[in-house]
Amino acid sequence: KKSLFSGMQATGTITLGNYLGALKNWVDIDKDEYMCFYSVVDMHSITVRQDPSELRKRARSLLALYIAAGLDPVENCIYYQSHVSAHAELMWILNCFTYMGEMNRMTQFKDKSQKHSDNINTGLFTYPVLMAADILLFQSDVVPVGKDQMQHLEITRDIAERFNKIYGDVFTIPEAYIGKVGQKIMSLQEPEKKMSKSDENANSHILLLDDPDTIMRKFKKAVTDSEACIAYSENKPGIKNLLDIYCSINGKTPEEAVAEFDGMGYGKLKERVGEVVVEELRPIQERYKDIMKDKDYLNMIIKDNGEKASYYATKTLRKVQHKVGFPDRI
Ligand code: TYM
Repeated sequence: KKSLFSGMQATGTITLGNYLGALKNWVDIDKDEYMCFYSVVDMHSITVRQDPSELRKRARSLLALYIAAGLDPVENCIYYQSHVSAHAELMWILNCFTYMGEMNRMTQFKDKSQKHSDNINTGLFTYPVLMAADILLFQSDVVPVGKDQMQHLEITRDIAERFNKIYGDVFTIPEAYIGKVGQKIMSLQEPEKKMSKSDENANSHILLLDDPDTIMRKFKKAVTDSEACIAYSENKPGIKNLLDIYCSINGKTPEEAVAEFDGMGYGKLKERVGEVVVEELRPIQERYKDIMKDKDYLNMIIKDNGEKASYYATKTLRKVQHKVGFPDRI
């Protein structure tokens, strides 16, 4: 079987962008073809300050959401990054194969260090190296992510190739897998910007646990343009984004959607997209509530899958440690 890894940060409830760009694609992956690892990457989260009890709560909530969205925890290994120490150990080694210049070029670092200028810590700087460790630990062939993670995927490949060149074929070189639609869902308020949970304007993003009224209200307030004509075009980012959301949920092509909405006003489009989102999220929210209630079930998954992830991760780690010249364990 081929191997696949992806992860999400536990910084707040995830958005419709995280869902359509990543989680929904994860659910559709053929489990007979891939062995899948999905992590709640809590170690990445502390690159910006977190309230400890909040972070713990959110990590658990995110793990439950993975399952609620349709990831079977028996077929998929769903676990906390911080429960598998191999992530940190491999990261250290990879740090020594990554150049300052490479990290300096990362656009996410530039953005985040502007936003958190009071706390530009070295974790934020080497964030992509931890991500490379996540991916390479599981010898991942494929990494399903949204478009904003492409640069990190490329640096992961560079680090892996550099390492392999010196030590032989140690790491599988991973490929990004980006869905056809939904790869970049934009803010409902500023459709030139990606939808992000860290956006202070709550109307800019749909959260996965938003109730139906809130979802409808946010869509009604979505920023569009003054043309009053429904078309799928880069020049109409607000409308394009609404059509993208619509299409990534019901599998229609943008052309089909445009034909369907022909002659209708923007108000109707917003309402239809809102309804489709509400119906998509309703069963997820119901399952989420049930899962969160069953504490023992969730604890068992966390423990079993953490051990399983550790087993596979340690296999790669030992190989790498040997290659770089650390004494073998007897
Ligand atoms: P994070 O937590 O920011 O986002 C999780 C996933 O959601 C995707 N995404 C989006 N897709 C479409 N439209 C949007 N507006 C949108 N916003 C977010 C992201 O592309 C991502 O796939 N560094 C990663 C987490 C990570 C990771 C990894 C991912 C850590 N280690 C290893 C893959 C492999 C991050 O912060 O994603």
